[in-house]
Amino acid sequence: FTATWDIEAAEKGGYPHFMLKEIHEQPKALVNTLSPRMVDGIPDFGIKALSDDILKSFKRIYIVACGTAMHAGMVGKAAIEHLVRIPVEVDVASEFRYRNPILSKEDDLVIIISQSGETADTLAALRLAKDQGVHTLAIVNVVGSSIAREANSVLYTWAGPEIAVASTKAYSVQVAMMYLFAIQLAHVKEMISVDQTKILCAELMEIPQLVERVLETADNCQFYASKFQNAHDIFFIGRGLDYALSLEGSLKLKEISYIHSDAHPAGELKHGTISLITEEMPVIAVATQTALMEKMVSNIKEVITRGAKVLLLCKTGQDEMDQLTDYVIELPKCNDFFTPLLAVVPLQLFAYYTAVLRGCDVDKPRNLAKSVTVE
Ligand code: G6P
Repeated sequence: FTATWDIEAAEKGGYPHFMLKEIHEQPKALVNTLSPRMVDGIPDFGIKALSDDILKSFKRIYIVACGTAMHAGMVGKAAIEHLVRIPVEVDVASEFRYRNPILSKEDDLVIIISQSGETADTLAALRLAKDQGVHTLAIVNVVGSSIAREANSVLYTWAGPEIAVASTKAYSVQVAMMYLFAIQLAHVKEMISVDQTKILCAELMEIPQLVERVLETADNCQFYASKFQNAHDIFFIGRGLDYALSLEGSLKLKEISYIHSDAHPAGELKHGTISLITEEMPVIAVATQTALMEKMVSNIKEVITRGAKVLLLCKTGQDEMDQLTDYVIELPKCNDFFTPLLAVVPLQLFAYYTAVLRGCDVDKPRNLAKSVTVE
């Protein structure tokens, strides 16, 4: 008897790579992370150490993480500042721990985000905050990991095991958790009414189904990947939440396809980066935020005028946008506030197909490790 399958192929569940499997697992991971924290349509984390009184006392938040988790923190900052109106700083853990951060044990909360719960710099940042008596809340995927054990409070993301080095589903559930936390904090601090809280929660709970629909853009993403696969450099541009998301799209692309890429706030282009825009420099424009639409249209025109081919990621029905470029990926309509959870999917798929077309080792990119436990 000869086995005609191997364990790894079985674990991939019919997908050619773990990364593609994990991208497709996102709707389920989002449901698993969000549903248990929803009671009567309102977030409830059920953490004793984070009572409403303690939550109310926070006047400033630091979010500390590395890599993709840090990018989830960028979306979290925008969400918390928008709903709760308290200042949030996002720090790369390796900077935070050596910059002698100004922390107040009376007013501050430090949120630590980590998929593995073992990243050395992130763990050290957690210890630093704890040593100064500041409440630490960990958002972690791996149960019982060092960060989960040491933090004052833990919120587990239920993404399940993530095997591919490039993080996909772990990012989505981290972002979802940040939204839920922002809504909860705004509710407790009475920045939003009970009705508003319920509406936001209902919209958030619809996201997993919408992500299913976005996954149907895979063929489109593959087609655009074939158009851009030979680029030496690719820029991502966006404003606000779309900029926070662009950082993650750019990281995904560079880590697995080895194409140099950077994300820029679209309004900042004219202060330097635009000198690099030529017909050799494709641009991926993320433009999902209605309030910033006009500004994005003019930024996209600026780069098209200089010869750039633009791949546009926008919501369906944006006629003015659609006409700017032939390369468009459309997202279903949803509250602008939550679009990063939809828009990240085509960016992951685009990075994935670009890497596959370039013959890269998608699940194990060179020089990278899934969990960095040394400095
Ligand atoms: C490594 C991984 C990244 C990850 C980062 C932080 O660099 O390659 O994908 O985002 O570590 O990992 P963590 O487990 O703390 O989220």
